[in-house]
Amino acid sequence: MSRKIYVFDTTLRDGEQVPGAKLNLAEKLEVAEQIAKMKVDMMEVGFPSSSQGDFEAVRAISRKIGKEVWIAALGRAVQSDIDCIYESIREAENPLIHIVLGSSDVHVAKKFRKTPGQVIEMGVGAVKYASSLLPQVQYSLEDASRSEFEYLWQTIEAVVKAGATIINVPDTVGFAIPEEFGKLIYRINDRLKNLAPQVLLSVHCHNDTGLATANTLAAVKNGADKVECTINGIGERAGNTSLEEVIMGIQLHEAYYGGHTTVDTRQIYETSRMVSATMGLDIQVNKAITGENAFAHSSGIHQDGLLKSKDVYEIMDPETIGAPAMEIVLTARSGRHAFMHVTKHLGFDIPEEAVADIYQQFLIMADAKKEIYDNDVLTLLKNSPIPSRGTHPELWQLIDYEMTVVNSLPWAMVKLAQGNKEVVQSQHGSGVIDALYGAIMEAIGAPIELIDYRINSLSRGKGSLGKVTAQIRCDNQLFSGKAIEQDVIRASALSLINAVNKMVLEQARNY
Ligand code: KIV
Ligand code: ZN
Repeated sequence: MSRKIYVFDTTLRDGEQVPGAKLNLAEKLEVAEQIAKMKVDMMEVGFPSSSQGDFEAVRAISRKIGKEVWIAALGRAVQSDIDCIYESIREAENPLIHIVLGSSDVHVAKKFRKTPGQVIEMGVGAVKYASSLLPQVQYSLEDASRSEFEYLWQTIEAVVKAGATIINVPDTVGFAIPEEFGKLIYRINDRLKNLAPQVLLSVHCHNDTGLATANTLAAVKNGADKVECTINGIGERAGNTSLEEVIMGIQLHEAYYGGHTTVDTRQIYETSRMVSATMGLDIQVNKAITGENAFAHSSGIHQDGLLKSKDVYEIMDPETIGAPAMEIVLTARSGRHAFMHVTKHLGFDIPEEAVADIYQQFLIMADAKKEIYDNDVLTLLKNSPIPSRGTHPELWQLIDYEMTVVNSLPWAMVKLAQGNKEVVQSQHGSGVIDALYGAIMEAIGAPIELIDYRINSLSRGKGSLGKVTAQIRCDNQLFSGKAIEQDVIRASALSLINAVNKMVLEQARNY
């Protein structure tokens, strides 16, 4: 069995330092509960001496989260900060005091204007005081990657003797490179395991040159016991190490790293979406693991290969991170094989002699629309004189919609069809999309919950195309629908209907 790598999530402390991403107490609690559901080992939830709001949020989370996840809070190496940390986390079942103090020349000489010996003394004093309050104390040597090695070690030795139970080595400014950082961790680990084998060696990297994940994994390969990360890699400047990248990197290469984590990877996708939505921080579409396109395939050659066997182009199953199944994105570059796959998936069986014609019609549509989604294919098939066979479940289609705002009160009416059945529903809402979605959900009548709604502009100017993504949950399963239209209201309706149709198809398959 490989060794366990501890996972420390700092989304609610370092991640929350992103300008404009500050959460209120209720939002912090909600995110903390979701992070706990992901089964990380430790989570850092604030800097309690920085504000009363932070203090209260840390205390509320400490009271709420059970013993499975250690609750950490950060402070400087001064008694007032440590007192504040203690007060905020003492009710947690497993509290951890986190102290940070610089160790590089620039920090010692320019930030503190002290001698190296005085800074070590400060650190030792802080650790002694913290360990008189609680048994678990983490000491971070800020800017460790730019520190002189013997001074770094001298500090580590002194704070471990003073009672630190975790030593954290940060690449605070994202300066490190994997080979060098790996060597640094190897040297520290070699000495630390001789001095105090029970002390955990941790790393904390920033992404200023895009190397945070690579540096963290290099550290794991060289003996680090613990990794500090944030969801979606959010954090100061270019961000922190992305939790999902490191976790999946370790999982995919367990033999190489000689380690594993106990994170429930199936919670990654939902946690990522929740953090992005509550903090208002969009996820780059091509972001590894959690980006919208991370499991989408659009090139004809790739789609053809995947349809023959998933492992031709897929190294992990989206379900392992709790994401909706692999997506074939139909574009003008999609081959006939991919297009026919989608029509079959929708339940249509097009006679061989009609395929060339319908595929031509698809190409004309794809040239005009960039991306083609289920509803577009349905419309194409319905309006086509080409006969189609097959026993497909009746899918929902948008027939018409209407919206008004009277006295600032938005209202929407939708007319939907499912086979021969037509349903008309109307609703008021807090906004036009809220009213529209309320009316659609009412018309469909299934117990669905809207998880995510996003709108992006695909081009410039007032005639630009809007791409809308809607995600719903039904019976603990996620379904994602997309639509591209110039009319973003129509795209919003269609994206939700596409998500519902995915659910209908899945239910028909399992029936
Ligand atoms: O980047 C950093 O050095 C930190 C420490 C508090 C670990 O965030
Ligand atoms: Zn940091």
